[in-house]
Amino acid sequence: MKRIYVQMSSFVKGRKAAGPVGISIILGLLSFMPRLLIVTFLSKTPEPPLEWWQTSVIYQVYPRSFQDSNGDGVGDLQGIRSRLDHLEYINARALWLSPMYESPMRDFGYDPSNITNIDPIFGTMEDFDELLADVHSRGMKMILDFIPNHTSDLHKWFQASKAGVEEYKDYYVWTDGNLTANGTRVPPNNWKSFFGDSAWEWVEERQQFYLHQFLKEQPDLNYRNPKVVEEMTNALRFWLERGVDGFRIDAVLTMFESADLSLNEPLNNRPGAELWQYESLEHIYTSHQPETYEVIAKWRHLADEYYQKDGNYRFLVTEAYCETIQQAMYYYHTGADMPFNFDLVFLNRTCGGDCVDRAISNWMTNMPIGKWPNWVIGNHDNKRIATKMGTEFVNAMNTLLLLLPGTPTTYNGEELGLTNIEVSYEDTQDPFGKRFGPERYHEVSRDPPRSPMLWDSTHSSGFSNATKTWLPVHPDYEIFNAEAQKKSEGVTPLKMYRDLSLLRQEATFQRGTFRPLLVDENIYSFVRELEGESLYY
Ligand code: GLC
Repeated sequence: MKRIYVQMSSFVKGRKAAGPVGISIILGLLSFMPRLLIVTFLSKTPEPPLEWWQTSVIYQVYPRSFQDSNGDGVGDLQGIRSRLDHLEYINARALWLSPMYESPMRDFGYDPSNITNIDPIFGTMEDFDELLADVHSRGMKMILDFIPNHTSDLHKWFQASKAGVEEYKDYYVWTDGNLTANGTRVPPNNWKSFFGDSAWEWVEERQQFYLHQFLKEQPDLNYRNPKVVEEMTNALRFWLERGVDGFRIDAVLTMFESADLSLNEPLNNRPGAELWQYESLEHIYTSHQPETYEVIAKWRHLADEYYQKDGNYRFLVTEAYCETIQQAMYYYHTGADMPFNFDLVFLNRTCGGDCVDRAISNWMTNMPIGKWPNWVIGNHDNKRIATKMGTEFVNAMNTLLLLLPGTPTTYNGEELGLTNIEVSYEDTQDPFGKRFGPERYHEVSRDPPRSPMLWDSTHSSGFSNATKTWLPVHPDYEIFNAEAQKKSEGVTPLKMYRDLSLLRQEATFQRGTFRPLLVDENIYSFVRELEGESLYY
């Protein structure tokens, strides 16, 4: 088994007058071969300032799991407010707030029933305004998770659409389906939902099927209806008016599907993919359709309108797990500042230096000229990096994340090197996990990386004073928590993360060039260089 290991040794701080320099980072890939971080660099010519989203770490807060302020076992907005010092401590200057909208929580907020209101479980609009004001008063930014593809089936638009109210009739994707010989109606095609089985759901009341690319409680909006585009644009405007600094745009791949609903998607014969599963099809009609471009471009215009008004840049990042790198790069051209780069998310412990290099080069060599790279190692949909790679690789992965060129995004808890928790089937909350049943839920359940943050060694690790939290608290919380890591004499993932994110503020890391250096099966190393005044560490 290969392992990535990074050891930073002899960090000597100082300044040098000149000299061609670089930063080289060597990640040894054998556990017994600690490697060295050598850092020397220089900078000279002043360049135009970078925008805040280029210089900041983006820190993803999953509201249910960050901090509970009212003892109901679920995190909330006042809880987040009370923990902003943590963001400052790790030098994360931009907070990405995962959904806090009114929602029946079938997909934990990714199923909003009102996208311009706050769910009571998280607090009130006043709490939201207070959180945003606090974030801004610390000189930080806040971006929201925006969910364009679907709403909850409890959204008033869907309720009206289902009832056939003229104005809302075409807000969602409806079809009669096909008539069989025995007079029953069947779906018009073989499209599958991301969570498995048909993407079509029959509604007695309307005598039609509606499309849902995710849960059946998440009906797909119909972006071929200009009224829908207008409504969603107005929702963005609503939050921009409240002062948010941008959006993470959820699941953009599925916003459009072919207008011809008679088209079946071909089987892709992927090993292990069963016929009921989303993975069994080639999503040529339901994913990554060209019309998406126009809608995101429109939202770019909207964001720029606000930028021009007050000089505060409004940032857009898209979420799309693409089949090919070309598809991923396409989103740079839609007006998004960057599409999330998930290449590092998919590394695992069999990956050696060559494999790390391929993942990084994949993005760097395919990215359109003039665009800005970015890196993600975890989020609320994927296993924690410490579980995937092994705890001994946490520092190495955070080093890559924070010192490669571009914007890093950190999911809450990754700065502590948290591992997944074990969740029994009975305690399983994630609808994806539940669909797979007691035998297989653990293959797909997204609960394990969603467990509460570990703040200290008190009850529920300081997350909540409830007897039972919505997901179990990690069993190691008494020794493994933020406070303990801060106080420790030795190197801890949290302290290391903080040092790296401070180091990342140096000009060379912000705007220096990048090239891989020594790369083989066991080592991955790279250089960051910038001309000018020199700093060396
Ligand atoms: C995105 C979210 C995921 C959610 C899905 C449907 O992929 O990250 O959590 O289930 O969209 O909204």
